[in-house]
Amino acid sequence: MRNFILRARKGPTTPDFSLDDLSRVGRLEIVAHCLANALFYSQNIRTDTVVHLVFDGPSDPPKTVRFESDQLTYLGGFDERTLAGAVQKALSAGKGLSLGEERQVDNGLFVAKKGFERVVQDRTESLYVLERRGADIRTVTFPQDVTFVFSDHLTMPKKTAKYLRRLGAKPICVGPRMLFASQCIVLLHNELDRQGFGKMIY
Ligand SMILES: C[S@@+](CC[C@H](N)C(=O)[O-])C[C@H]1O[C@@H](n2cnc3c(N)ncnc32)[C@H](O)[C@@H]1O
Repeated sequence: MRNFILRARKGPTTPDFSLDDLSRVGRLEIVAHCLANALFYSQNIRTDTVVHLVFDGPSDPPKTVRFESDQLTYLGGFDERTLAGAVQKALSAGKGLSLGEERQVDNGLFVAKKGFERVVQDRTESLYVLERRGADIRTVTFPQDVTFVFSDHLTMPKKTAKYLRRLGAKPICVGPRMLFASQCIVLLHNELDRQGFGKMIY
């Protein structure tokens, strides 16, 4: 299973936002780009892929929205607005959750009142954190079950970086430039595809 944990520190935790200007909603367009690149490739949906979106923004933090590609049914498209709409639907269903509680919203779509540490704690095996100074992904042989942690446009807080290190997360780098989070996802998927893991459908 390929797990992508995206921390969106300003990402919304309640559904009361407009889909008309996503960049004002904690940069939700970045989250949508990450979702699109994690879940889809040309004319297909990825298998064995889980995306955990951890939101810390207003007004009821924390919340985690999870997409499981193997169970997902048609979302209505893969444009920013549609994907942000799916997030909004999950946040709507997540109203009133108590800490640690999770609810299924739809096939392959879940919402939980869980924060970043809790989500990462559940996936400490084969945990990699995306860092410019990490090991080159071309030198790493990834296991089949793998988890990648990264942030959106905001830097991970220092204490989170320390926490990840304590958990044994291995720093990895996808290339020499600071890329968008969604671009890192494409490169990671590609590296795993090249290493021959995952069920490929052409
Ligand atoms: C746009 S970057 C974050 C920029 C933010 N100002 C920072 O300094 O962390 C989004 C995510 O992609 C990761 N990232 C971007 N380029 C990378 C690279 N070449 N190798 C590894 N991770 C990268 C970052 O570590 C971060 O988690």
